[in-house]
Amino acid sequence: MQIIKTIDELRSVLKNHSNIAFVPTMGNLHAGHIQLVEVAKQHSECVVVSIFVNPLQFGPNEDLASYPRTLEEDCEKLKAARANIVFVPTVEEMYADFDGKSLHQTMTITPPPIASELCGASRPGHFAGVATVVLKLFNIVQPNIAVFGQKDFQQLLIIKQLVKQFNLPIQIIGVDTVREPSGLAMSSRNCYLTDAQRVSASQLNSALQGIVKSINAGKTDYHQLEQQAKTTLTSQGWLVDYISIRSSLTLLPATDADNQLVALGAAKLGNTRLIDNIEFLR
Ligand code: PAJ
Repeated sequence: MQIIKTIDELRSVLKNHSNIAFVPTMGNLHAGHIQLVEVAKQHSECVVVSIFVNPLQFGPNEDLASYPRTLEEDCEKLKAARANIVFVPTVEEMYADFDGKSLHQTMTITPPPIASELCGASRPGHFAGVATVVLKLFNIVQPNIAVFGQKDFQQLLIIKQLVKQFNLPIQIIGVDTVREPSGLAMSSRNCYLTDAQRVSASQLNSALQGIVKSINAGKTDYHQLEQQAKTTLTSQGWLVDYISIRSSLTLLPATDADNQLVALGAAKLGNTRLIDNIEFLR
């Protein structure tokens, strides 16, 4: 496995490969990320993983500075998963106009309106930052396929729209969320949780499962189900950002006509913001 830090070196190594599978990450890798590498490996003999904590997708009061950086352990896990190349650029390498402080000169993508809802409502600019870095990484790596987790359902939908609207010749593959036995979705941010919070953290998934069960039992008042789940989580000590039942095809609010649905939630336990979702058929 090669560890490469510059765009020039990566391009010269990849020049000789014709079928490249790509897994973009921000590092602090867990079994969810490794599952993406395994799926990538099923599609290609040349799997490139990027590790880059992208400043452009963090808000001013978010956890950019404290985001866990564990490069050595990450590389060990990637080697065991038979990744071929790890691309680890610096901020200066990725953003040519970075002046050491701010990225406000950077040309960015304006994502579609759905990027301003759900996570985008409380994280303005987040998906513009994600779409911009992913397009840059796609241009650098030029993969045939790229693998993303369904755990970030809204991100996956926006990446699919990015590929479609910018005519990129890349197949996007979504992979099911990998969970702890408790149901808690694996996340790099779970390391912020105290032991007690980690026990409570599966309540977010339970709340979403409750919604799926109610809908499968015939309940149709989605607004009421969302409110009930919010009330339950709030009483359990969560600060709820949103609980929402949407069409899994468009991410617009679900109507009676939709039968491919997704229940999504974002909520804070202490200072840690967690997200989760369950895609299901009605
Ligand atoms: P990061 O949070 O590191 O996630 C990298 C990839 O791993 C994403 O596609 C994400 O959906 C997937 N992933 C995370 N947890 C998962 C889980 N429990 N099961 C399955 N897949 C999981 O998402 C990002 O980084 C960034 O926004 C990025 C796309 C790299 C752009 O900077």
